Amino acid sequence: MSREPALTAEAGGRSYPVHLGDGLLAATGELVAEAKLAADAALVIHDANVANYAATVATSLERSGLRAPLLSVAPGEASKSLAEVERICRHAARNGVRRRDAVVAVGGGVIGDLAGFVAASYQRGVGLVHVPTTLLAMVDSAIGGKTGVDLPEGKNYVGAVYQPGAVLMDTATLASLPPRELSCGFAEVVKYGLLDGEELFSVVESWPELPGPADDLADLIRRCVAHKVGVVQADEMDLGVRATLNLGHTVGHGIEAAAGYARYHHGEAISLGLLAALRISERIAGLDPEWRERTRRILERHRLPVRLDSAVGTADIEDRMGRDKKADAVSLNMVVLPRPGEPQTNADPGREMVREAIEELRG
Ligand SMILES: NC(=O)c1ccc[n+]([C@@H]2O[C@H](COP(=O)([O-])OP(=O)(O)OC[C@H]3O[C@@H](n4cnc5c(N)ncnc54)[C@H](O)[C@@H]3O)[C@@H](O)[C@H]2O)c1
Ligand SMILES: [Zn+2]
Repeated sequence: MSREPALTAEAGGRSYPVHLGDGLLAATGELVAEAKLAADAALVIHDANVANYAATVATSLERSGLRAPLLSVAPGEASKSLAEVERICRHAARNGVRRRDAVVAVGGGVIGDLAGFVAASYQRGVGLVHVPTTLLAMVDSAIGGKTGVDLPEGKNYVGAVYQPGAVLMDTATLASLPPRELSCGFAEVVKYGLLDGEELFSVVESWPELPGPADDLADLIRRCVAHKVGVVQADEMDLGVRATLNLGHTVGHGIEAAAGYARYHHGEAISLGLLAALRISERIAGLDPEWRERTRRILERHRLPVRLDSAVGTADIEDRMGRDKKADAVSLNMVVLPRPGEPQTNADPGREMVREAIEELRG
């Protein structure tokens, strides 16, 4: 049986299918065989919290005639380490995973980034299949080819751009995702609404309590993925338009880091970062304040923070913003939005205006 992918993504002169649907996990074997991604073995690297989904994936791969050794990874950002890369590569070697085989990543962005980097470097590159199981991983990290791990000195400091051979998004997996994680993914969905334009923004704005109707959610994810695919296709190596995807992330990263990666999850920091970016957009790009108000209401409805905790200091946020590896030494290189759908990169609002926007988040 062959299935039409929901989308075909192109990057680096190659293309790969993005399959999206309810109950797709059981078809992993067929889809991997169809894409000719593994000759003999597919190493299933999974988050310990989704062992049940990984087992379904492995069974399906075995039915298609592949060996499918499983390897569980402890949940959490701490697993994005070079020590884990070594552990996984050695497990692959001991299990006879070879150059023409593949790695299948089952989990959220942590697993996707980690297993993706293993796929890029093990035997100088093996096949890679992303099976994202968080909303954030579906709309963001599984697409675009950025892989990597953290160093104590900084997040995502070691990595590679390495495109998958296929992406399989099974929306049924979202049923077990904790509500807080669903909300975090939705912060990125709101970002896509702003970046894509009024039409997608309105769909996002009228979204009911998460997860909402399954078919509709799949369609919303498809639209976010389509936006990212288009941007990555135009700028795989992140030299230009891809930077627009950082809307809300300059201040957002600063907040996340200043709060010690503890008080706020990524999506929560991005919720605040988006509001700051829209405030700055009003001041230097002429954005109608109506958009910030509408965005604030969406974020609130999905239990995302719209007020900054007083325990997180403005000076700390500013300091940590400067250390973002994407930020230039002198200017901040922010993304601003004169209108939904028309992001502009390389804006430099100046430190003072950024400070004011952060202070205004305290409400
Ligand atoms: N490569 C990229 O382009 C890119 C883009 C954005 C983010 N990222 C990275 O992604 C990571 C964050 O990803 P995330 O938000 O998916 O977090 P995550 O991978 O840590 O997953 C969040 C939590 O949900 C659990 N979980 C995952 N799927 C589940 C399911 N279906 N049911 C129940 N529990 C489940 C995990 O065990 C974890 O506790 C960060 O490391 C970030 O740097 C990468
Ligand atoms: Zn993000």
